Amino acid sequence: MTRIILPQMTARGRGVIINISSEAGRQPSPFLALYGATKAFMNSLSQAMALEYQSSGVIIQTLTPLLVSSNITKIPPRKFLVKSSDDFVREALDTVGVSNFTSGCFLHSVHSLLLWPLTSNFKFTIPILTFFHSLFRAFRRS
Ligand SMILES: NC(=O)c1ccc[n+]([C@@H]2O[C@H](COP(=O)([O-])OP(=O)(O)OC[C@H]3O[C@@H](n4cnc5c(N)ncnc54)[C@H](OP(=O)(O)O)[C@@H]3O)[C@@H](O)[C@H]2O)c1
Repeated sequence: MTRIILPQMTARGRGVIINISSEAGRQPSPFLALYGATKAFMNSLSQAMALEYQSSGVIIQTLTPLLVSSNITKIPPRKFLVKSSDDFVREALDTVGVSNFTSGCFLHSVHSLLLWPLTSNFKFTIPILTFFHSLFRAFRRS
């Protein structure tokens, strides 16, 4: 898709590409290993391209959301935990041109900061692994 639309955008000297990654790509994601790995690929590709095209007028943004109510998660919006897709998109669009790599909304930025000490540098302890496993099983049931 990027290969198709980028030449027209660079010719015009403006455009926006928003790549939807996930918090799962920011660190290893046990029990979502393949999903997390594809999102890590997306983070790397998208951030590298943002740098390559930074003087072209084209914005390439990477979004790394946490929980959004959608067909994938099949969980309803919940205050302080799960964003509705409308609310998420509204907040995320406000970040275009402000940040090229962002969780996309204030709530998810806070969640990401809280998760970071638990999951960074491969410091997965048994309780954290158990938490990830139960989260994964809950998604499979929904
Ligand atoms: N929801 C979350 O909590 C969450 C968190 C982090 C990241 N994300 C990411 O956000 C993105 C959107 O997911 P979502 O939660 O909004 O789920 P969604 O509502 O199920 O949306 C997925 C979209 O992808 C399209 N799609 C699926 N397979 C496709 C294919 N082979 N070719 C073309 N289009 C295809 C679907 O089209 P149809 O409607 O036609 O099937 C649908 O529009 C995904 O990349 C997901 O990994 C979601």
